[in-house]
Amino acid sequence: MKRQPRSNPRPHSGKTRRTVSIIGTGSYVPEKRLTNADLTKMVDTSDEWITVRTGIKERRVAAKDETTSDMASKAALNALEQAKVKPEDVDLILVATATPDMLFPATACFVQKKIAAKNAACLDVSAACAGFLFGIEIAQQFITSHTHDTVLVIGAEKLTSITNWTDRNTCVLFGDGAGAAVLQHRGGAHGVISTHIGSDGRFTDILFMPGGGSRCPITRDNVDMNLATIHMTGKEVYKQAVTAMVNASRKVLADAGLTADDIACVIPHQANLRIIEAIADRLKIPLDRFYVNLDKYGNTSAAAVAIALDEANCSGRIKHGDYVLMVVFGGGLTWASTIIEW
Ligand code: UT7
Repeated sequence: MKRQPRSNPRPHSGKTRRTVSIIGTGSYVPEKRLTNADLTKMVDTSDEWITVRTGIKERRVAAKDETTSDMASKAALNALEQAKVKPEDVDLILVATATPDMLFPATACFVQKKIAAKNAACLDVSAACAGFLFGIEIAQQFITSHTHDTVLVIGAEKLTSITNWTDRNTCVLFGDGAGAAVLQHRGGAHGVISTHIGSDGRFTDILFMPGGGSRCPITRDNVDMNLATIHMTGKEVYKQAVTAMVNASRKVLADAGLTADDIACVIPHQANLRIIEAIADRLKIPLDRFYVNLDKYGNTSAAAVAIALDEANCSGRIKHGDYVLMVVFGGGLTWASTIIEW
């Protein structure tokens, strides 16, 4: 189907609206693998339970001295190389993460130093697993409004640093890694054609890390209470995730004037294969059009869609002219969706 122009194009500065394209992608995952079999030696679980309930077979674990910004920088340099953009030509770096190197300064500043992107402004995006697509939306707004030309968006996580390794409900789910994209205006129709971001702060208590912030600093008295780790009510998050990702997908499809049949590849948040199957079923998009790599990496939060996008790009799974739908969901609650004409 030929896409119909949107009836409500977004307002802009009055200058010509600029199409924003992803001109390079990159990713990095640590070498160390933690398999389901390994986890059976740590908590009361089984390969069968993890595989059937989540689809995850193994995940990557960063080295003790390997930081979120180390992984982010490697992914960023890969993306810049593919885009043929020099670090000094980047004018904005956005790092989406729930596991920053430090509470401040921003992890993006550490990345700036490591990749020598000396002309960039740097900030972190805190939108949990949805952060990478929040970053794409922010980048798009900055480029469209002519304030910045070249934006590096990174999703990076060292979730194993906030995992409670005694809690079988959560420790089997998460992994580490980073993915990145370089965005610019490149002329022509190809690029981001529809985006949506949303949040629902009524559900801050179903996926969160209670300790380590200003509300509950870690002290000598609470240090053994696992407060600086992920706390999740899995079943409730599951329900909210399916509904939010289906609605977010429908919204960007409608805004783009496309139907589910037009989408060549869906890159969803990589949390649980059953969630992806439920979304495929409700959107009536065959499962084989979904890019899935959670079996290899588990849930890497803000990095998940960024890594999957790079893999889909580099493997030729997405091709020039394809409509690609990305859709994510995370703590907050937060969700986001983007359609790109690749
Ligand atoms: O990235 C942000 C978004 N996050 C998500 O989208 C995650 C959403 N939630 C989920 O993916 C799923 O809810 C989980 C994979 C976390 C859990 O699956 P579930 O089918 O909802 O299982 P459950 O939490 O209802 O637990 C079922 C049973 C419980 O035992 P009882 O109470 O029925 O006896 C759990 O104690 O499974 C037990 N269980 C386990 N058993 C073996 C929980 N974790 C494990 C485990 N191994 N690792």
